[in-house]
Amino acid sequence: MLLEVRDLHVEFRTRDGVAHAVNGVSYAVDAGETLAVLGESGSGKSVTAQAVMGILDMPPGRIGGGEILFQGRDLLKLKEEERRKIRGAGMAMIFQDALSALNPVLSVGDQLGEMFVVHRGMSRKDARARAVELMDRVRIPGAAQRVRDYPHQFSGGMRQRIMIAMALALEPALIIADEPTTALDVTVQAQVMDLLAELQREYHMGLILITHDLGVVADVADRIAVMYAGRIVESAPVHDIYKAPAHPYTRGLLDSIPRLDQKGQELYAIKGLPPNLMDIPPGCAFNPRCPMAQDVCRTDEPPLYEVDPHRGSACHFWRECLHG
Ligand SMILES: Nc1ncnc2c1ncn2[C@@H]1O[C@H](COP(=O)(O)OP(=O)(O)O)[C@@H](O)[C@H]1O
Ligand SMILES: [Mg+2]
Repeated sequence: MLLEVRDLHVEFRTRDGVAHAVNGVSYAVDAGETLAVLGESGSGKSVTAQAVMGILDMPPGRIGGGEILFQGRDLLKLKEEERRKIRGAGMAMIFQDALSALNPVLSVGDQLGEMFVVHRGMSRKDARARAVELMDRVRIPGAAQRVRDYPHQFSGGMRQRIMIAMALALEPALIIADEPTTALDVTVQAQVMDLLAELQREYHMGLILITHDLGVVADVADRIAVMYAGRIVESAPVHDIYKAPAHPYTRGLLDSIPRLDQKGQELYAIKGLPPNLMDIPPGCAFNPRCPMAQDVCRTDEPPLYEVDPHRGSACHFWRECLHG
């Protein structure tokens, strides 16, 4: 397995109390595989990713326990210097907002080239040539001319392609894309997502695709991990989830996707709000919003039940959900 996160816990100590952002998350992604991590805002998707990348804000963040095995090594046991090496060449991250992730006062060619100068010891001239190649690779029209341009001179979609190029530069084994298309309009979203999926296949990388939009993952993901209040509530191959969710929260997310064949009908929305992470309700964290909740859901926290060897659901009533 390329990456295996095991029972990860992350909390934030703030003036108001302790926010339990990640509460025992386990997930895995293999080379050539795409794992989509799904869930409403605040469910702990980014914090988990930041822990994997080693860019968690500490303090106020603190890793309370768990393991992050990357190519067999527990990253949480490595020295910062070793982690930095892995961050350069082993794994890379693509963020939602390219404009704040890129350096505004460096041309995109210099920024891309910098990767090769620093990590590969290339000359400026060779690095520049590689930068143009990369920009071509992510299909930026007129790459040879545009290599001197600055980030603000590109459209949102083109900037996101440049971020993908940056992430790809050192051919990492793993890419984490955190809401990579959220800031783009719908047609551009699809293009950038297609490009990312194509490159992932070509380079045989592991890809963790974080999104709050189930609509975008159907075509690109192999597996889906659904997060709620810092836990994985369902984990399954993507087709199984679309066929029949095994958790009422997943069902709610599926029902909230706009569908062409239901134009004009009012869109379903899961009622209520995610819990306060300083005060997560006992039992199943989703119970106050769950249409299927029974007494046991308010008292007993569900384990991740094995639905089948490839699938888990943290719902006491996963069978009813699956067949209902
Ligand atoms: N730097 C921080 N300081 C304090 N709390 C934080 C910080 N980053 C994240 N959190 C807490 O962790 C929760 C989960 O955040 P995040 O992983 O970013 O959610 P998302 O699923 O939307 O990516 C937030 O709602 C917040 O309570
Ligand atoms: Mg996030």
